[in-house]
Amino acid sequence: MHVVVTSDVDAYAADLLVGKWDSIRVLGLATGSTPVNVYGRLIQRYYDGTISFRSKRTFNLDEYLGLAPNHPQSYRATMVRELMQYVDLPDDRFHVPPGISDDYDAACTAYEDDIRAAGGVDLWVLGVGVDGHIAFNEVGSAGASRTRVVGLAASTVAANAKYFDDPDEMPTQAITAGVATIMDAREVLLLAKGDAKANAIAKAVCGDETADTPASWLQGHGNCTFVLDRAAAAGIISLVGADATEASGATGRVHSLEMLG
Ligand code: F6R
Repeated sequence: MHVVVTSDVDAYAADLLVGKWDSIRVLGLATGSTPVNVYGRLIQRYYDGTISFRSKRTFNLDEYLGLAPNHPQSYRATMVRELMQYVDLPDDRFHVPPGISDDYDAACTAYEDDIRAAGGVDLWVLGVGVDGHIAFNEVGSAGASRTRVVGLAASTVAANAKYFDDPDEMPTQAITAGVATIMDAREVLLLAKGDAKANAIAKAVCGDETADTPASWLQGHGNCTFVLDRAAAAGIISLVGADATEASGATGRVHSLEMLG
């Protein structure tokens, strides 16, 4: 696992994505507040002609159960609002798990099949919850978990209810890519900002690989980078020291720790 601490997570992540754009055929995406400005930067790079989405395929991590695709707070609609409406990704190459289905088990299997048929995800962009969840793999999610229907933790419901006009409309279940679905991606880029994430990040990076902190499963991924601002990295920094430039072997399975400006 590589850890980069930077004052500008958005710029770092967008530059990294644009830098390897040609090698990304299938891009995994997340919703939530963390990647929004990264998507904004990708839109700018699309407008200035640096990148195109025409030949890409995207898979989102998750969707709220029971929300129709056109519900404004569905993750499909959110992605359209934050990214897809501005870029040239063909509709049939934009994948989000279905929020409504006659057969959720079949829908989950089909999502895994679609990812496999696309050749797998080249790079998956992730956020992380304050409890260490990735996608909607809440605390207790096994490393072998696949796309499935899950119940949302009370902390997740509380954190996301603010996006709904009526907070009681906030779903308590979701359909999510599993930990193993994410681990199959050839590269993972986890972004975290703010001190609310510091504890989860410290446990994910420096603690044991455990279902108690689902993001810690990423320690077992051979090509995973955490891009953090100083606040989100505070727990790691207190363990390895603020001046560390190379913390190989110092904490868990961290292979490098880069402190940028
Ligand atoms: C959303 C997702 C979630 C979020 C996490 C953090 O697709 O996968 O795991 O990444 O809840 O959300 P924010 O970025 O809003 O803090």
